[in-house]
Amino acid sequence: MRIIAFYSPKGGVGKTAAAVNIAYLASQNNCQTLLWDLDPQGASSFYLAGAEPVKGRKLSKLLEGKSPMAKFIHDDVYPGLDFIPAHSSFRNFDIKLEQESGDNQLKKLLAPLSEETSLVVLDCPPTLSRLTEQVLNAADKVYVPLVPTWLSMNSWNQLYDFAKDKKLGAKKLRPFFSMVDRRKNLHRELVERGPELMANCTNVAVPYASVVERMGEEGLPLEKLAPNTPAAAAYRKLWQTIQKDLW
Ligand SMILES: Nc1ncnc2c1ncn2[C@@H]1O[C@H](COP(=O)(O)OP(=O)(O)OP(=O)(O)O)[C@@H](O)[C@H]1O
Ligand SMILES: [Mg+2]
Repeated sequence: MRIIAFYSPKGGVGKTAAAVNIAYLASQNNCQTLLWDLDPQGASSFYLAGAEPVKGRKLSKLLEGKSPMAKFIHDDVYPGLDFIPAHSSFRNFDIKLEQESGDNQLKKLLAPLSEETSLVVLDCPPTLSRLTEQVLNAADKVYVPLVPTWLSMNSWNQLYDFAKDKKLGAKKLRPFFSMVDRRKNLHRELVERGPELMANCTNVAVPYASVVERMGEEGLPLEKLAPNTPAAAAYRKLWQTIQKDLW
C-alpha cells in the first residue's frame, strides 16, 4: 500500500480537485484506492456527489474491529474507489493527534487497510499543524499544487525548509503547477523555470479551466465530466508521474 497526500498551506489552490481526479484515475487503473478527506470543510464530497452507488466489497465490514475508521468508509463510490468523507468526528482530529504521542498515529490508523488497498490519497486542509506533520510522516510522497506566482514560490520554500528542519522528509515533497493561465507572462516563465527553482518539481501544469470548477457542480471527476480537455490531460499526466514516483 502506498500513501500520497495533496497538501499546501495555502487555501484554494487545487488540492481537492487534484486529490479527487487522481484517486479516480487510480481506481480506473486497477489500483484499489481509498480517498480520505481530512479537511473538516469536506470539499471532496462535492466532487463525488454524482457517483452511482455500486455493490462493493464492504471494506468497512472487513475492517470492523481492526480499524477505528471502519464505520466511516464508504465502499466503492466508484468501482475500486473507497472514500472517507470529512466527518464531524474528524473535526478534532488535530487535537486527538496532539494528545497521542508519536509522529505515526496517522500511519497506524491506515495500517489495517494495507491488505485491501493499493493506494491511499489524503486530501489535506490548508493548515500547517500537527496533522501536517503526521501527513508528511505517513505519506510516501506529498504533491503540492502551486499557482505560479512569486508568493507561491516563497511559501514553497518555507514549506520545504519546515519539512527539512523538522526532519519530515522534505524529499517527499513534489510540487506541481495548478491554475496555470498561459496568457500571463509570469505563469509561463515560472512554469518553465520550475525545475530550476524548486527541488523535485514535477513536469505537470494543470491549466486554469472553468471545467474544473464545474466538477463541484456536477459532482463528477474530470475524467467522467470532460475527458477530452487539456485539464483532464494534465491530471492524467500527473497520475503517470505519481505512478513513476511510487512504483
Ligand atoms: N485548474 C483549475 N481551474 C479553475 N478552477 C479551479 C482549478 N482547480 C481548482 N479550481 C477551483 O478553485 C476552487 C478551489 O479548488 P480546490 O477546492 O481544489 O482547492 P483546495 O486547495 O483544495 O482548497 P482548500 O484549501 O479550501 O481545501 C474550487 O472552486 C475549484 O473548482
Ligand atoms: Mg481542499
